[in-house]
Amino acid sequence: MAHTITLIPGDGIGPEVANATRRVLEASGVKIEWEVQEAGAAIAEKRGTTLPDEVLESIRRNKVALKGPIGTPIGKGFRSVNVTLRQALDLYANVRPIRSLPGIEPRFEGTDIVIVRENTEDLYAGLELMIMPGVAQSIKLITAKACLRICEYAFDYAQKMNRKRVSVAHKANIMKLSDGLLLECFRKVALDYPRIEPYEVIVDACAMNMVRNANKLDVIVTENLYGDILSDLGAGLVGGLGIVPGANIGLECAVFEAVHGSAPDIAGQGIANPTALIQSSVMMLHHLGEHTAATKIEKGLLSTFEAGVRTVDLGGQVGTEEFTRTLCEAIGRA
Ligand code: NAI
Repeated sequence: MAHTITLIPGDGIGPEVANATRRVLEASGVKIEWEVQEAGAAIAEKRGTTLPDEVLESIRRNKVALKGPIGTPIGKGFRSVNVTLRQALDLYANVRPIRSLPGIEPRFEGTDIVIVRENTEDLYAGLELMIMPGVAQSIKLITAKACLRICEYAFDYAQKMNRKRVSVAHKANIMKLSDGLLLECFRKVALDYPRIEPYEVIVDACAMNMVRNANKLDVIVTENLYGDILSDLGAGLVGGLGIVPGANIGLECAVFEAVHGSAPDIAGQGIANPTALIQSSVMMLHHLGEHTAATKIEKGLLSTFEAGVRTVDLGGQVGTEEFTRTLCEAIGRA
């Protein structure tokens, strides 16, 4: 039976990596009917909104979406479509596995950690105001409800995936109430998971530990902003933003997207690395129970990288098209 899935190609390099990912999924043999939906600046010109209602309706109906990156203006302009989507669908857990791949020189051999980022509140709540000229205020919103469910998600994930430790990255020495609440919830949830070791680390020390011995941290659970920054740091450990996937998970729906943004500096040049979105689509296939197709793509990726076929961001020579074609052929042999 075919799965009906919402596809948001996004902007910048989004349509290029989304197209590559569609071809790779097709090569894996999985049957998917796509409902293509537009969101972001381009649609705003036609529709007067960056996130038309039918995009949310399509995801609510299909329960699963694959999404390319969508750019957000800096310091002015419309609110991030990505943040709005996560909040509107209550996609509270942002799961980002950070693993080294063969043939891509990592900072450290065998890096294998997972960041579980709270996805709906913190400084991303969008509560900002100018108190007076020259004085701006952003409100960091943290609730026990969101802290408990993200900690439960992280411990559950660790248990299911046979992980040993969940590390909470916080700044409760300074933000005693907000980050203190996260820590309190983490300690409470940890009691229900006696086989998983809880580990508390201040977020700045966490960043330092990530570049010294990341695997010690294992699964990292943290707030929205810290999670955003630590994920890019993690991507840097394993070869860059071109390879790290992500999943936004809620109780009703899930939206799979890469960690990277729309990369306007390379958009339209045919050199974007589609691996991060392809790996996100592998997470999507596992979520759908399509493990055979997921394994085929994973094997295809391994043999493609082992053969030294890499895009330019990874120090290779090939563009998006050649990488995708080689990968599709490898999947055919897997
Ligand atoms: P970015 O991730 O788009 O790019 C950072 C650097 O990494 C650039 O040099 C880019 O060329 C490179 N890069 C990223 N992905 C790549 C890929 N697949 N292949 C090869 N090189 C790649 O981050 P930046 O420049 O900070 O943000 C650009 C726009 O993307 C902004 O408008 C931002 O708001 C948006 N953004 C959207 C996200 C989403 O849709 N979930 C996430 C992060 C940023």
